[in-house]
Amino acid sequence: MGVIENLQETTAYIRSKSSLKPKVGVVLGSGLGAFVKNVQIECSIPYAELPHFFPPTVEGHQGRLILGHVGSLPVAILQGRVHYYEGHPMDAVAYPVRALSMLGIEILMLTNSAGGLDANMSPGDFMIIDDHINLMGQNPLMGPNIKNLGPRFPDMTEAYDKKLRVLMAETFDGLKQKYWHGIYCGVSGPTYETPAEVRFLQMIGGKAVGMSTVPESIAANHLGLRVCALSCVTNLAAGLTDHKLSHDEVTERAAAVEESFCKFLGAFLGRIEA
Ligand code: HPA
Repeated sequence: MGVIENLQETTAYIRSKSSLKPKVGVVLGSGLGAFVKNVQIECSIPYAELPHFFPPTVEGHQGRLILGHVGSLPVAILQGRVHYYEGHPMDAVAYPVRALSMLGIEILMLTNSAGGLDANMSPGDFMIIDDHINLMGQNPLMGPNIKNLGPRFPDMTEAYDKKLRVLMAETFDGLKQKYWHGIYCGVSGPTYETPAEVRFLQMIGGKAVGMSTVPESIAANHLGLRVCALSCVTNLAAGLTDHKLSHDEVTERAAAVEESFCKFLGAFLGRIEA
């Protein structure tokens, strides 16, 4: 079966559970799943139940699709994602975003945990993603183009929607919450970077580095969605401090910013008209 038929099967299953038509899709990254407590949930479906979805294998990722409202805004939340480093093909990583597009979302908000590449950053800081550099050595659109999804050669001039970036900045300002903005470097992982790689990423203009977001952003741009993305800087990248990195540090730090993250996301979604 082709991707379109698979997507039709997935969305038919979702539709059998709920008729809610989401306007915004949100992907909650590592340790950031707590936002769902701010959602008036209409329906929650484990990925394991969803045709053609892969359950995430990484700790800190729950793996549920939630349909509901934030205020009056109808949303679809992907609580947890699969990553390229888990061994899934790129199109499997992009699949949930395509499913949300078929459900009718117009805007996609991607969130992630990332390493900070600027030595002035502190763990727990937020960064609005202005643009990305794809260093994964792969692209989810490789292979025959599926015309019903989008064009063969999608434009990426404004991969992260300018108006949404401004809205994110205004939301942070309104909350008197400090933020960074900059370029996200997407790497395959699962190793964290070497200090030499971190110096390279700094040299090419990166401000944060992580192992997700880029495939979903590419797939969403292909679909013509308006995309925005936020990094939670859970740690300074390798070599910028004198200690070693661990996934525990990443998830603990993400949990520590839970409150400010939820506050921001709730306020940001509140500024998007239903
Ligand atoms: N590097 C890559 N991915 C990450 C990091 C990092 O330092 N922190 C959280 N995700």
